[in-house]
Amino acid sequence: MESLYIAHPGPAFERLADAGSNFLQRVREAVNQPDQTKRLRKFGIQEAARMAGKSAASIRQAEAIDPRFQDLGPTERDASGHRVYTLTRINQYRKLFGTERIRPYGSQAIRCIVTNFKGGAGKTTTAIHLAQKCALEGWRVLVVDLDPQASSTLFFGLIPDVDPADTIGDVLVDNPTAIDSVIRETYFTGVDLIPSNLTLQNAELILANPNSNQSVELGINPIDRLLHALSTVEEQYDVIVMDCGPNLGIMTLNAIRACTGLLMPMQPMMADFASAVLYSQTMASVLSQKKIAHPLEFLKVLVTRHSGSAEAKDTEAMIRVAFKPHVLDSTMVHTVEVERATNDFGTIYDIEQPRGSADAYKRAMAAVDRVNEEIIEMFQTVWRRQAEQVEKAA
Ligand SMILES: Nc1ncnc2c1ncn2[C@@H]1O[C@H](COP(=O)(O)OP(=O)(O)OP(=O)(O)O)[C@@H](O)[C@H]1O
Ligand SMILES: [Mg+2]
Repeated sequence: MESLYIAHPGPAFERLADAGSNFLQRVREAVNQPDQTKRLRKFGIQEAARMAGKSAASIRQAEAIDPRFQDLGPTERDASGHRVYTLTRINQYRKLFGTERIRPYGSQAIRCIVTNFKGGAGKTTTAIHLAQKCALEGWRVLVVDLDPQASSTLFFGLIPDVDPADTIGDVLVDNPTAIDSVIRETYFTGVDLIPSNLTLQNAELILANPNSNQSVELGINPIDRLLHALSTVEEQYDVIVMDCGPNLGIMTLNAIRACTGLLMPMQPMMADFASAVLYSQTMASVLSQKKIAHPLEFLKVLVTRHSGSAEAKDTEAMIRVAFKPHVLDSTMVHTVEVERATNDFGTIYDIEQPRGSADAYKRAMAAVDRVNEEIIEMFQTVWRRQAEQVEKAA
């Protein structure tokens, strides 16, 4: 009979880790073919026109007669001769047409934490899709991966064994003002990323250990480090999305301290609801601590991975009653399209050719868009309020 006994579990896990990393590496390489670098898809003229807030005819006309457009070089064509546009080019058109996104004077970058200590709630999926949608709209976005699992980092095509010195961990431990050095551009135009990897756990331990004398050395409380770091770069962004792991560790506490708004994705299932109640109790106590307490521009639950079953609908109804007014109107369905895309470390916005039915893809895209549009509208409401306050104070 096969023996179940393991005398040395450590090496057993080491073998799992080695074999697993090997597989992951191969999956990533396969996903990122042919040159192993992710690329953002291009957009047809209709999409480009919608994104630039113009008609396709005005784009054609501008390209034909306006030297400012011609200075950008010839318009790219696909194999069938149709015009295609990169997001970079669409952003240039937005500038030339005067339809670029500029948040109101006096407003601040949204620092949005995506959090919930329930694992698999949909935090990373929500965070990445939101970040990418904001960038497609022309907003300047920074994603901060605060989870040692490094899922967001993977989505941007980076292998999470990036150098520890290139993650947020070392910066928070050694020098928060050096945050600039760990920000990278990504394949997704308009989205910058601070990657993560497993070593974030070490940073977590160091920051949590009062004997490491961190606060004395830097004169900044370990929980204030991210806030401090982000304040040096936030002017360069409109939206900063912080993806947290399923925990309330020091990285998450830093994000709670640094955020101006909070998104909590949750599945409409009783166990998740129960966990969210517990999470809320914990957050109540965390946010009542003087060193963390601060106002929030928004606090919203996103009902996500909705199966559409009668039970899920009942639970959703309960969430809406219990957490009113803190539940977004839109819900995100659990779709095979998102499941497939995320399984390949991609998003619905990455897909050019749906692998399933075109209808299913369109429905999934519409659902993701609806959620993101509601969130972005909320951001704009925040910016208007901030701008009005600055105006009043002047
Ligand atoms: N709307 C959706 N439709 C289908 N699958 C989804 C959807 N949202 C998330 N998933 C899947 O659910 C799983 C968990 O999602 P995700 O990684 O976003 O959760 P998480 O809260 O970030 O997890 P963790 O707690 O580990 O960080 C992933 O495999 C993802 O593919
Ligand atoms: Mg995650």
